[in-house]
Amino acid sequence: MAEFHQRLRSTRRLPDRHARPPAGELTTCSALTFVEMRAINRDMALIGMFKGKGANGFGYNSTAQEVTQGLDLSGKTYLVTGCNSGLGLETLRILGLRGGHVIGAARTVDKASAALQVHRTSGTPVACDLADPASIRACVQSVQELGKPIDALIGNAGIMALPKRQTIHGYEAQFFTNHVGHFILVTGLLDTLTDNGRVVMVSSAAHSRAPKAGIVFDDLAAEKHYSSFGAYGQSKLANLLFARHLAKRLNGTRRTANALHPGVIRTNIARHLFPGAELAMAGLTPLLLKNTEQGAATQCYLATHADVEGISGKYFADCNPATTTKNGADMTMAARLWEVTEYVIRDLG
Ligand SMILES: NC(=O)c1ccc[n+]([C@@H]2O[C@H](COP(=O)([O-])OP(=O)(O)OC[C@H]3O[C@@H](n4cnc5c(N)ncnc54)[C@H](OP(=O)(O)O)[C@@H]3O)[C@@H](O)[C@H]2O)c1
Repeated sequence: MAEFHQRLRSTRRLPDRHARPPAGELTTCSALTFVEMRAINRDMALIGMFKGKGANGFGYNSTAQEVTQGLDLSGKTYLVTGCNSGLGLETLRILGLRGGHVIGAARTVDKASAALQVHRTSGTPVACDLADPASIRACVQSVQELGKPIDALIGNAGIMALPKRQTIHGYEAQFFTNHVGHFILVTGLLDTLTDNGRVVMVSSAAHSRAPKAGIVFDDLAAEKHYSSFGAYGQSKLANLLFARHLAKRLNGTRRTANALHPGVIRTNIARHLFPGAELAMAGLTPLLLKNTEQGAATQCYLATHADVEGISGKYFADCNPATTTKNGADMTMAARLWEVTEYVIRDLG
């Protein structure tokens, strides 16, 4: 990351950590009433007021619209999985707003078409059910047939914290949907990436909730032990390790792969949590959570911004490099995961 920061320093004026804040900028909320705080927090979570910006001038509060300001993406093509909801829908909106052609992937073509229509985004709807290898392979084929080189592939779709253990093709459902499904899709489309094409995997800080040993290679069906967040954490660790190992495989090319944590955002991802979770998240949003515009910023930044051209194998949060758990940086585990996933896929027939 030293290289990333050095490059930014040479092109921009870095914020001086000791400088006085510009006049009018809020540095404390002690004098604010709750009503005033809520008004401010329509655009900014309270926590965001205490978080600084990173070396690139972007941070917790940056929105996808802000981080892509001034970019002209016309002539470029992006594929976004899970384009019909939450962060995926906002990502689709922003990429389209900047002139990009968006291949919107959703479980069904109807959902993808509807998502493109919401903001009249120029793009192509495709069906891609990440729990169904046949659907993913059909998606790969139809995207290849489109003949449009892809500038960035954004692996955004995901499910979280299924209360009861479920399996798909004999594997724990979150591991299969979030990791194996994306593995089939991304590896199937690698040849359609442009020479400097990017793979952007939406992981999570929840990768820290994976079991202590990381990926439980000898129990990928979670038969011996199942915990809803442990399994989600494992799948998000898999997204991160996938990006790390893919970056290694792309070494020597101009193509890149990175992973990210988007923040904590109230979206449909909470649908499997305890009853009332969505209401609780709604209550927390003004204080502690990002809104979707902020939540989609890091993935839009990684998919489009010139700052990250050539940066690969890294993990970002709030549009800046971030640290992971020890498992999240374990390249031996990443290589083993790749090998095991290839085996899983071969076994599917
Ligand atoms: N929100 C957060 O706080 C948070 C924090 C960290 C990481 N993330 C990650 O951010 C990503 C986006 O989540 P979100 O918050 O935007 O949640 P969301 O609103 O629930 O969106 C998830 C998307 O994934 C799609 N999806 C789920 N299962 C699928 C399948 N089998 N095949 C294809 N698509 C499928 C959903 O489609 P349907 O609508 O058809 O179900 C939906 O479009 C996820 O990878 C999540 O793990 C979110």
